[in-house]
Parts: sequence; structure tokens; C-alpha cells
Amino acid sequence: MQRTIELTSPQWEFFNNPAKFKAFISGIGAGKTAIGWILAMKEATQQAGSRGLIVAPTYTLIKDVIWWEMDKWVPRQLIKEFSENKKRLKLKNGSEILFRSADNPRHIERLRGLSIAWFWIDECTLLPKLVWDILVGRLRQPGYSYKAWITGTPKGFNWVYELFIKDPIPDSYILYGVPTKSNIFLSREYIQSLEQQYKGQFALQELEGKFVKFEGLVYPGFDIKKHVVDAVPSEFDRVVYGVDWGFRNPACILALGIKNDVAYILQEYYAPKTTDDELIEIAKQMQQKWGVGTFYCDPSEPASIEKFVRAGIDAVKANNEITPGIKAVTSLLESDRLYVHTSCQNTINEFQMYRYDDNDKETPLTPSY
Ligand SMILES: Nc1ncnc2c1ncn2[C@@H]1O[C@H](COP(=O)(O)OP(=O)(O)OP(=O)(O)O)[C@@H](O)[C@H]1O
Ligand SMILES: [Mg+2]
Repeated sequence: MQRTIELTSPQWEFFNNPAKFKAFISGIGAGKTAIGWILAMKEATQQAGSRGLIVAPTYTLIKDVIWWEMDKWVPRQLIKEFSENKKRLKLKNGSEILFRSADNPRHIERLRGLSIAWFWIDECTLLPKLVWDILVGRLRQPGYSYKAWITGTPKGFNWVYELFIKDPIPDSYILYGVPTKSNIFLSREYIQSLEQQYKGQFALQELEGKFVKFEGLVYPGFDIKKHVVDAVPSEFDRVVYGVDWGFRNPACILALGIKNDVAYILQEYYAPKTTDDELIEIAKQMQQKWGVGTFYCDPSEPASIEKFVRAGIDAVKANNEITPGIKAVTSLLESDRLYVHTSCQNTINEFQMYRYDDNDKETPLTPSY
């Protein structure tokens, strides 16, 4: 039985565009995950025996978004076997699709071992360029033609902008900026509620899928070219960590190395719905990598801090006062004493988007994801 799928008009154009590397950068709910899956099925069915890879920033996103939508886009009769454990979908025509998250450097490094014909990165703007660079080098399954596409919502001017808009290789790289309202499968009420929620520049980014430079930035001095670095010192005078427990926003741990009064943000862990035990595991892995140090924790969850301490981690309440923190960071940036490693994409996004409320110039808005 042939199933017909109706596409929105940007999805249709994206589907048919023959470029090797494609980016579908859109507002919330414009149909990114859907077109990502549809293209995955196009490659997997047209190139029998091919191996493809679907990447999302976290395992939770693989489970709750990619696999959740799978039933809609993968006809049952094509499936030979799906294994959650092996994170693999095998089709009857011999093609297979692997699923990988890229939430820590070890996961990212493991991507290097693969040989694939195509890949798709969902929520690409939450991942560092390193993931893209590694995967482009894995497009080498013998006997197949190679394709890659990425889908996401803009988050400041990051590598996606550089690669696909600023300096694209003509004919090979194309980017579609797609508004939410192009998705005819969303209800009018839903679109209206989003339009009420987002205004101004934020609406351009979150609903129109446009790359925007925000006004009222908390850190206008942050400059990717200057403050984002590939190389960091191999030894530090000390290493400290920052922990946000994440309730409304994702939980976050940052590793910060300090040498000669210069601070380097070395590694970030950002993930929604992470338990304290999982965070303890991440914290330990980070200490193994960067060295033992104090964890300055968001003071709003004393029970979580207590758990860290019981797990042998030197966790203390951070002073979460916003204004002195901003002043300190600003002064570090101005004197070029703060650098962010290129792998810390969410931190880079935040520096570019953290801004004051239009109506209350004193209060920064909590970043949203
Ligand atoms: N071509 C289509 N046919 C039918 N339904 C579609 C199509 N494209 C998208 N949808 C539906 O529209 C809704 C939003 O699509 P999707 O989840 O792909 O958007 P998204 O841009 O990935 O959203 P988010 O910003 O939340 O990641 C989903 O319920 C999806 O199944
Ligand atoms: Mg999606």
C-alpha cells in the first residue's frame, strides 16, 4: 500500500532541492522534525542497503521527539526491526538508521567511528559545529551518494549561520528560513497563542525562523570571533563548576578553568529532565576530565546540593545574585579574560541571546529553549 504524505509548501521545496547539504531553519512547530524524518525515509528507501544517522542533542530528545514521531513517518510494512537498546531501525530493504545523542564530548567522539551515506541533525543550533564537522567526514559508505540536512530554530548567529548563509559553497549548501505559520497542520488557535507569546525580535527568531541580533543584550561585548576558542590551556590554576538544577529550563553544569586570572568555559552539559543522580554522574565525569573542584550550585534546591555532597562532591550554594554576576562577567569579557570553548554551543547561544526585558531594563529575561 502506497501512503501519500501531504507536505507544507516549504517542506515540499526543501524535499525537492537537490543540494548535498540542506538546512531547514524555522520557527517553532513549522515541521522541522517531520521533514527531517521524511527525508530520512527518502534516502533509506531510495538507497537500499544504506546506513543513515539521526542525531539530536540529548537522548531525551531522541526518545520524546524523534521516536515519538517515528510511527507517523515510517510505514510499518517497511520495518524489519527496531531496537531501542541498539538505537537502530532496520528496514526490509537492508537500509539501517542509527540514532545518536550528542550531549557530552564522549558521545560526540564516538560519532567518529561510523561510515554512513547520510545524516540528519535535529535541533542543530543546540549542538556545536564539531558535530557537523565530524559527521561530514563520516559520509563515506562505499557505493552510495551522500546527503546531509539539519533542522532547527535560530539561536543567535552561530555556526549554522556562518556555514549556510554567510559563506555557503554555492549549489552545495542551501538554507530555508521557514515561518511557523507555513505549517498548515497546526491549528489556528495554536499559532495565535504563539503569536501572543512572542513579540519583536524574539518573534522573528522563534516564529519566523530568522537569524536576529537582539537589542538590549546583557552581554553586548560578547564576540564569537574573539571569545569563542578552539584551543584551551592543558593545565589550570584551578577548576570550578557551576550547576543549575533546571526546573523550567534544562539542567546545566559548566566546567570553568582558571589560569593566570583568565577564565575558560571548558565544557557544558545541558539537558532537560535530568535527575540528580544523572547529574552526579556527569559531574564526576567532568571532574575526571578537568580535575577536582568546587561545584557552585543554584541555591534554590538545597536537597539536590545535599545529594551532591553525599556523593563526595564539593558542592556549595552559589551566590545567585544577578547584577554582581553580570558585572563580573562583563568586566571579564571587556578585558578579554573570559573565553568559551567552541564545543559549548548552548553557552554561546546564551551569550548572544541573554537580554533585558523591554519593559524593565534592570531585569534580564530567563533564557528560553
Ligand atoms: N507534512 C506534514 N503532514 C502532517 N503533519 C505534519 C506535517 N508536517 C508537520 N506536521 C505536524 O505538525 C506538528 C509540528 O511538526 P513538527 O513537530 O515536525 O515541527 P517542529 O518544527 O519540529 O516543531 P518543534 O519546534 O516543536 O521542534 C506535528 O504534530 C507534526 O506531526
Ligand atoms: Mg521538532
